[in-house]
Amino acid sequence: MRTIAVVNQKGGVGKTTVTLGLAEAAAAAGLRVLVVDLDPQANTTSGFGVWGAATTIDDVLATGAAGSALAAITSSGWSDESGRPDLVPGSPALANREPMLASDPVGAQDRLRLALRGVDYDLTLIDSPPSLGLLSVNALFAADEALIVTEPGAWAVDGVDLMLSTVERVAARQGGSLVIAGIVVNRLGRTRDNTFWCGQLQERFGSLVLPPVRLRAAIAEATAQALPLRALGKRAGAAEAAADFDAVWQALGDRSIRECSSNSTSDANAEEANHGGL
Ligand SMILES: Nc1ncnc2c1ncn2[C@@H]1O[C@H](COP(=O)(O)OP(=O)(O)OP(=O)(O)O)[C@@H](O)[C@H]1O
Ligand SMILES: [Mg+2]
Repeated sequence: MRTIAVVNQKGGVGKTTVTLGLAEAAAAAGLRVLVVDLDPQANTTSGFGVWGAATTIDDVLATGAAGSALAAITSSGWSDESGRPDLVPGSPALANREPMLASDPVGAQDRLRLALRGVDYDLTLIDSPPSLGLLSVNALFAADEALIVTEPGAWAVDGVDLMLSTVERVAARQGGSLVIAGIVVNRLGRTRDNTFWCGQLQERFGSLVLPPVRLRAAIAEATAQALPLRALGKRAGAAEAAADFDAVWQALGDRSIRECSSNSTSDANAEEANHGGL
């Protein structure tokens, strides 16, 4: 069993998108996948087509009991064709849970870790909020690996540096079992600016940088429709986007593939243009 926290204190870089894409890739590869939505925005939960869940991650953290996550696990709304991940749904109520966690002198940091005890999947992915608050810290304490998602833009290196030092601090307190799974450069387009910043990330972080996920309208569309990329059929860019996530998933097991170039069989420039305002 592998537990990966998907993190970056910066908002909108693609944590949720990468969580959904990797869940799809790993499920399609035949793994039993659980996703924990630890963000009050609950975008992962919506992306899986789950609304109004009876039991959510907020209930799980409220009880603080060992194994309490088991009772909150539900199937995602995706079809079963290529493997359907399970989900511990998110909730907007989490926003109020964070200050309550802070007032717990014993379990502020490892409530989620305790709640996941006895939960047995091949892969557990934890999507986290855009902050370095106690929810993100709980995600890191519960994980054995941290996957940092960033955009190839200005200040990306600084943001990743800050995240790396947070992971190191948690690892020192968590018993040292937490490691960096890698850095995913998401929303890579073919602009000079993107290539420059991606190069900076590679220069600074070397082999920690995983294969990129390119900017593609199909990705935003799949999330908006609460569908896996494979369910978009022949939609332009969908298969290529799924292949990007497959490559990240493979690289998480095999650190040999590292490319910042935006090469692909389809025209990524056209995709970027199609993408309009995003
Ligand atoms: N590779 C991509 N191609 C096209 N659109 C993308 C890509 N990655 C993310 N997006 C879009 O960018 C927006 C932000 O992505 P996402 O919600 O995954 O970021 P986040 O880091 O989870 O945000 P938050 O910090 O608010 O949780 C979403 O609308 C998403 O569909
Ligand atoms: Mg998110």
